[in-house]
Order: sequence, then C-alpha cells, then structure tokens
Amino acid sequence: MRIERFLTGITTSGTPHLGNYVGSIRPSVRHSLRSGVESFYFLADYHALIKVDEPARIQRSTLEIAASWLACGLNPDKVVFYRQSDIPEIPELTWFLSCVLGKGVLNRAHAYKAAVDKNTAAGTDPDADVNVGLFMYPVLMGADILMFNAHQVPVGRDQVQHIEMARDMAHSFNHRYGEHFVAPEAAIEDHVATLPGLDGRKMSKSYDNTIPLFAPRDQLKKLVGSIVTDSTPPGEAKAVDGSALFQIYQAFASAEDTETMRQAYATGISWADAKQRVFEHIDREIAPMRAAYEALMNDPGKIEAILHAGAAKARAIATPFIGQLRHAVGLRDLRTQDTVAAKTAKLALPVFKQYREPDGQFYFKLQSADGRLLLQSGAFASPKVAGQTIAALQTDGIQALHSSPVPLQPGPDITESDIAAALQALHESKQG
Ligand code: TRP
Repeated sequence: MRIERFLTGITTSGTPHLGNYVGSIRPSVRHSLRSGVESFYFLADYHALIKVDEPARIQRSTLEIAASWLACGLNPDKVVFYRQSDIPEIPELTWFLSCVLGKGVLNRAHAYKAAVDKNTAAGTDPDADVNVGLFMYPVLMGADILMFNAHQVPVGRDQVQHIEMARDMAHSFNHRYGEHFVAPEAAIEDHVATLPGLDGRKMSKSYDNTIPLFAPRDQLKKLVGSIVTDSTPPGEAKAVDGSALFQIYQAFASAEDTETMRQAYATGISWADAKQRVFEHIDREIAPMRAAYEALMNDPGKIEAILHAGAAKARAIATPFIGQLRHAVGLRDLRTQDTVAAKTAKLALPVFKQYREPDGQFYFKLQSADGRLLLQSGAFASPKVAGQTIAALQTDGIQALHSSPVPLQPGPDITESDIAAALQALHESKQG
C-alpha cells in the first residue's frame, strides 16, 4: 500500500480562533493519527510576510499557532512539524518553479486578480499596492508542496486553484527535466463545518468576528455572550436555522446533545441560558488544551526545539532532493560529466568489425566510437570461430580475451581496462 503523504501550511499572520480549530486544526490532528498516512504540517511564515509587515506580529503568531497545534494534540514525533523559513531549500525551489511557470498563469490567480480588479474599479493603476510576493504566492505554495512530493493537500475551496497551479508547475518541470515531481491533489474539506462568527458571517479575522481558540475562560464566556441572536423572548420557540449560536454549539456537541439543544430551542429556552450551555460545552472541550497551550506559550524554547527537530526531519528529505533538482537543471559541479556527454558516449558504442584478408584468413577488430583501434585479432581459419570469439567477448567481457583460440592484441596506447570498459558498454547496451 502506498503511504499517502499529506501536507498543509498555516499562514502565521494571526491568532488561531475557533473557526480555525473546527475547520482545520481538529480535523487535521485527527487525521494525522490515522495509520497509512504521513503528514507534514508547517508554519507558513514566508507567506505571512506578504500581508504582514509587523515583525512582532509575525513572531507572536508563529508562537501562538505552533503552541495551538501542539496543545490540540499534534504529535511532533508522528508527523513532520516545521517552520517554512527553516527550510532554505523552499525558496530555492520557488525560483526553479518560477522559471518553468508561465507568467499568465499567475495573472489569473484569484488573490492577485481580485486586487487588480479592485484597483481597476477604483480607477487606479491595476497593480497599485500589489507586491511581487502576492503575485508569486502560488509559486511559493507550489514549492511547499512539491518539495516533499505530497500526494494530498487538504485545503478549502478557495485554495484549489493553487493546487492546480502546483500540478502545472510539476508537469512543466518534469517535462523539461525528467520525472522529479508528483502532481499533488487537493483534498477538499467539504465535510468540515465552516463556523459562523460573532456576527453570524463566517468566522474570519478579516470580519473581526472571531473567538480566539484559547481565550481565557472568562473572556470566552463574554464572547459567547456576544454572539448575535434575534429578539425572541424567553419562553417562545426559537429557530435553529440561521442561528449562529446553534451552529457553533453543533460544532462542539455530539448528535445527541445537539438534539437536546434543538428541543430546548423549540420549547423556548432563553438566549441567556442557551449561551451559558454553549459556553460550558465549548469550554469543556477546550479547557484541558488551554492549560497545555499556556504552558507552551510560557516555554518558547521548547517550541523552538520541537521546530528544529521538525526542520531536521524535513531537511533530511529536502536537502538531497534539492541537490537532485540542481543537478537536473544544470547547476552542477563542473567536474562531473553527465547527461548530454554521457548519453552521446553511450549512444556511440564501440563496434566489432569482421573481415577477410587476401591471405584467405579471417580477422576481427574492436573499434571505439571515434574510430580508434581497441583490439586486433590474429588470423582465424574459420569465420565461425571468429564469430564465436566475438560473442564470447560480448557476453563474458574481458575474461574471454585470455581464452581466445587466437591471440588478441590491444591497439596502440590501449590498456586492458579500456577494452574491458568498451566491452562492458556493449554488453549493457545489449541488455538495456
Ligand atoms: N495558502 C494557505 C492558506 O492561506 C497556506 C499555505 C501555504 C499552504 N503553503 C501551503 C497550504 C501549502 C497548503 C499547502 O491557508
């Protein structure tokens, strides 16, 4: 069975919230514990630089996200958990991929196109305030994925286009330089819930409607209390459809508990009581992890050590692989002679030539591809024996030199090992 390799990155630009937990962290951690999968999780801090220019926020977010994943049960001994910027092979691969991907493909990337459309609508320069990093975002992401030849990349629908671009890069590179990359597939996570935020829209940093995953208990209580509800008074039946509070509850509750809550809505639970139940339920799941999170946040050295160990595991793959790729594209030690030269040398094989002299005897010689005399036979009375001797040289190599019924003489300046190499080349060409 092929071990499926999963890989996913988390941009280090914010504080993890309950939406990230339900939509990404919780399913990923569960998935990583399955057998037959090999998982790569990394902190996409190079990606974060595209939109965040506050160094302290990048650092803080990296720490918080690492601590969150670990607190939620990601086992760094079972998965490869690392920080993108600890892998210098990734930016190098980004460059290789940049050189095989058409610029037009990036022009069509959603995030870039959205920025251009917005500028065009506003009547400004189409590329106003667009940095090259944003434009190159899909290439860096392609390098993240192809560096480890991941088969499956769990992503939301908004990221599918990036995976298609990564496939495009894999194919373009393979086409030019041989089969080096696996074309990745998007593992679309339709089954995981998108959590609504405080205002009922999708929970997202950009809507400023989030509940931080590890908000302290009293803050969590306050935030759950501020989830939008309608004005149905206590004692009156409440609709579950369109209730953000209900959806949030459902993301944390068993089917049974969800049913009980549905009943409570129908029989007129007050919003205050419903919120109290929701808060208690979320807190029950989060509280044990919150303690682990706080311990990790107070011990950044421990996280550094974990990330370094992860980077070592990742680089055990990335370093030799980038070496292979450098060689493939022609960034090579000048002393090595390979591909073109070696291929032509292989194609241009030495040849045996048989002939008859005016003395009526039969002879053969072995000539190198460039026409030099490698081996000269003496006189054979029978052409059949001459042919058998050639066959023996081709199958047995240099040993046959000494068992020949007729003396065989190396050509001028030719050593026995030259002859052995020529016979070996002939032999291999017959086999392959
Ligand atoms: N673009 C992803 C996001 O914003 C993060 C990311 C970076 C990523 N590199 C990746 C995801 C590679 C999957 C694979 O969510």
